[in-house]
Amino acid sequence: MSKIETIGIVGAGQMGGGIAHVSALGGYKVLIHDVSPDRIEKGIATISGNMARQVGSGKLEEKARNDAMARISAAPAMADLAAADLVIEAATEDETVKRKIYAQLCPQLNPEAILATNTSSISITRLAAQTDRPERFIGIHFMNPVPVMKLVELVRGIATEDQTFEAAKGYVKHLDKTITVSEDFPAFIVNRILLPMINEAIYTLYEGVGTVDAIDTAMRLGANHPMGPLQLADFIGLDTCLSIMQVLHEGLSDSKYRPCPLLVKYVEAGWLGRKTGRGFYDYRGDQPVPTR
Ligand SMILES: NC(=O)c1ccc[n+]([C@@H]2O[C@H](COP(=O)([O-])OP(=O)(O)OC[C@H]3O[C@@H](n4cnc5c(N)ncnc54)[C@H](O)[C@@H]3O)[C@@H](O)[C@H]2O)c1
Repeated sequence: MSKIETIGIVGAGQMGGGIAHVSALGGYKVLIHDVSPDRIEKGIATISGNMARQVGSGKLEEKARNDAMARISAAPAMADLAAADLVIEAATEDETVKRKIYAQLCPQLNPEAILATNTSSISITRLAAQTDRPERFIGIHFMNPVPVMKLVELVRGIATEDQTFEAAKGYVKHLDKTITVSEDFPAFIVNRILLPMINEAIYTLYEGVGTVDAIDTAMRLGANHPMGPLQLADFIGLDTCLSIMQVLHEGLSDSKYRPCPLLVKYVEAGWLGRKTGRGFYDYRGDQPVPTR
């Protein structure tokens, strides 16, 4: 495998944008693909705004921002990702969506390219089996927001070769992130522990034990969490939270992972958290307002 110089990203949402952001600042060329040119443009504009904030707070030089932005290009067609040495899929947390992407993407890629997924929970082995390169497939699980969070979980599928693992490690280390290695079990380490806690917070709301404000304040001041679990759920995206709970519930066949019906209802309503302007808080005004 030749050196990793160009990163392809599928999905220009919260995570794809964040991965593009840190990769471009790390000196990699970045190609971003999404379902439409509009989404790609919006993703690139968000990266630009986030880097501008870093410049404003003195964390980044203006020149470094300009250089990094110049390394990012739109890839409106999947074929535009042919130049990538490593492609990271950061599309919606839905196995059917990811499978369809791999079916279209694999024939377009350099046969030597590594394909990674940023999935929060889905089996790496099962996803790898949908590709033409299970030995060059790996989970590179960044945390949200990517520019701020230090951790990246690396997850090997059963067929992942050592060379692929070492190349992924080299890329993540170059971004100055800390790696933990997780075995390929539903939701890996971070979300296996975090999401049942968030789901329980939603049950606490559902059963009327406390209001949104009471639950979040209790966990911030009583358990010293930097943000409350409901605020964090809105931040992750309630659709992503629900998908992870479904993967845990199905994958481990244990009723303790049953998604809270209130979480299901919010997702059905399209109240997905910050990204849609409403979740457990309403984000449409100047300040987030608890909705219950
Ligand atoms: N949100 C988090 O906190 C978090 C943290 C770690 C990992 N993840 C994982 O990262 C992935 C993306 O999550 P997100 O929060 O960025 O979601 P998001 O909803 O912000 O973005 C998903 C993007 O994928 C795009 N997409 C959907 N179908 C596509 C297709 N067929 N081709 C190309 N693009 C497509 C959507 O248009 C959207 O822009 C998921 O697998 C999620 O589990 C999320």
